[in-house]
Amino acid sequence: MIRSKLPATGTTIFSVMSALAQQHQAINLGQGFPGFPVDPELIEAVHRAMLDGHNQYAPMPGWLPLREALADKLQASFGCKLSPADEITITAGATQALFTCITAFIRPGDEVILFAPAYDCYAPAIELNGGVPVWIHLEWPDYSIPWEQVEARFSQRTRMIIFNTPSNPAGTIWTREDILRLLTLTAESDCIVLSDEVYEHLVFDGHRHESVLRYGELAKRCLAIYSFGKTFHATGWKMGYAAGPAALMSEFRKVHQYNVFSCHSAMQVALAAYLGKPEHYDQLSGFFQRKRDLFLSELEGSRFSWKPARGAYFQLLCYSGLTTRPDREVAEEWTRSPGVASIPVSVFYPEPFDQHVLRFCFAKEDDMLVEAARRLKSIST
Ligand SMILES: Cc1ncc(COP(=O)(O)O)c(C=O)c1O
Repeated sequence: MIRSKLPATGTTIFSVMSALAQQHQAINLGQGFPGFPVDPELIEAVHRAMLDGHNQYAPMPGWLPLREALADKLQASFGCKLSPADEITITAGATQALFTCITAFIRPGDEVILFAPAYDCYAPAIELNGGVPVWIHLEWPDYSIPWEQVEARFSQRTRMIIFNTPSNPAGTIWTREDILRLLTLTAESDCIVLSDEVYEHLVFDGHRHESVLRYGELAKRCLAIYSFGKTFHATGWKMGYAAGPAALMSEFRKVHQYNVFSCHSAMQVALAAYLGKPEHYDQLSGFFQRKRDLFLSELEGSRFSWKPARGAYFQLLCYSGLTTRPDREVAEEWTRSPGVASIPVSVFYPEPFDQHVLRFCFAKEDDMLVEAARRLKSIST
């Protein structure tokens, strides 16, 4: 008899909705992957690195020139000074970095504060390590952080706080005030902050990305996590990195070396060269903001309501003007007809919390977004 360590875990909603979308040939705005090709220059650079012989194990923390390029980029973006030698580690995507960080620090009984709706990989990683998720619920339409609640639930048992800005699925961003509240809250503690910043380049309407790395005092107890997949439309490459102070990073690496040891060599060589040109990533906000605006302008006159996403590539739409049926049920029905797949936001809570909101990924070609909006506008139930 096998005793599952994650008895409540089944097939993710992302797989369920994608399979349904395929079955009904629906437009898939459910799963969050970009519908654009990777820059041929980057692909050629990977090819060249392979031909040049970069096909054996990379160093455990990553190819040094890539870590140096990242240290320069982080300094230019956030004004922080990280040592490539011992404060940056290349990982197999952000997911591995998050898992590794949680495993490095969470012991049985440790409490971890996290915010729902949340990306789905945090809680299972906490539970696998015997930790206890302490959930703070955020609510439609603002999903603002209820700081009094966070302060009330913060205690000596709180070993870690995990947050994600810009947020998947909410499309919200943490403000400077939020970060300062976090700084004050954790100031006298040994609580570690795990900051998931995979959408760092996707911040709209002139706002800036409030990385923890901008705030020196806070950064001392933070690890920040990034993903090349999100930045370079290459989610299938599963490449990312963790950045933070040497004292935390050395514990992180102790787990990393037995978890994956090292990551794809040729991609690291290629990314090191590619990152040298900021134009490869500094246009992304404008590019995705235009996508968001196109999708929303095409939805004008529909019975959905929304707040424009401030970051990431997800737009939430509330359908309570159409029906009050459960979000999972309508997401499935509208995938079948009129043929647009989305993700019900209730699944991003520890127990389904239904506010009649669906998540749509707008990292897609324009004609696909226009057609999806046309179909959504045709819904009249
Ligand atoms: C908030 C968030 N964190 C982490 C990840 C995982 O990133 P990666 O594909 O690099 O593992 C995702 C992917 O969708 C995400 O949305």
